[in-house]
Amino acid sequence: MATPHNAAKPGDIAETILLPGDPLRAKFIADNFLEDVKEYNTVRNMFGYTGTYKGKKVSVQGTGMGMPSIGIYAHELIHFYGCKNLIRIGSAGSMREDLPLRHIVFGMGACTNSNFASQFNLPGTYAPIASYELLEKAVAAAKSHGADYRVGNILSSDIFYNADPTVTEKWSKMNVLAVEMEAAALYMEAAAAGVNALAMVTISDNLITGEETTAEERQNTFTKMMEVALELA
Ligand code: ADE
Repeated sequence: MATPHNAAKPGDIAETILLPGDPLRAKFIADNFLEDVKEYNTVRNMFGYTGTYKGKKVSVQGTGMGMPSIGIYAHELIHFYGCKNLIRIGSAGSMREDLPLRHIVFGMGACTNSNFASQFNLPGTYAPIASYELLEKAVAAAKSHGADYRVGNILSSDIFYNADPTVTEKWSKMNVLAVEMEAAALYMEAAAAGVNALAMVTISDNLITGEETTAEERQNTFTKMMEVALELA
């Protein structure tokens, strides 16, 4: 059965799925890294593909930007298609002077300014975290690929263009490494369903120093992260 956002049929999607925000990145991965590829979704141009990597079945699917969007795709992938390992691959803005461009950050935890957790009616503040199992494997893969990486807390923000210029400094003081816009929702959807999730992001810009990567650099660092992520299949 298809969902309102995904035309895949049961069995079309692998248990392990990579989730870039940009659907064209999903196509790039399918075109350049996977074999025996089948395109299972084009609804809203949020492309989804299943293929094999080193003989193992793996899927890759765009999620769009922001927590509401990844929340929809993650929820459906888990509850309608049986996905068990959901790995976000994206970009993030560094919030620390000592975290340079092009490094990979594995989000051990994801702070957020969003209200996504309110749906669970918890009597306190939820701490969204990565699957330790996936995190451990990702760190091992990063080491064996010689990738520059950090592990730590990230911020999943609802806001890209912040009206208050002091917020970065405040999160940075709490040793939050980088800001992106999706991980916390992914972690919560996975936790609520008892499945595994991990967000890995490459640093595309630095909010403290104002440095930015070029489009070509973003493509190259993305490719490196892809190789790390695909080792989790
Ligand atoms: N993704 C990449 N850079 C970002 C930034 N500065 N803020 C939020 N998400 C990002």
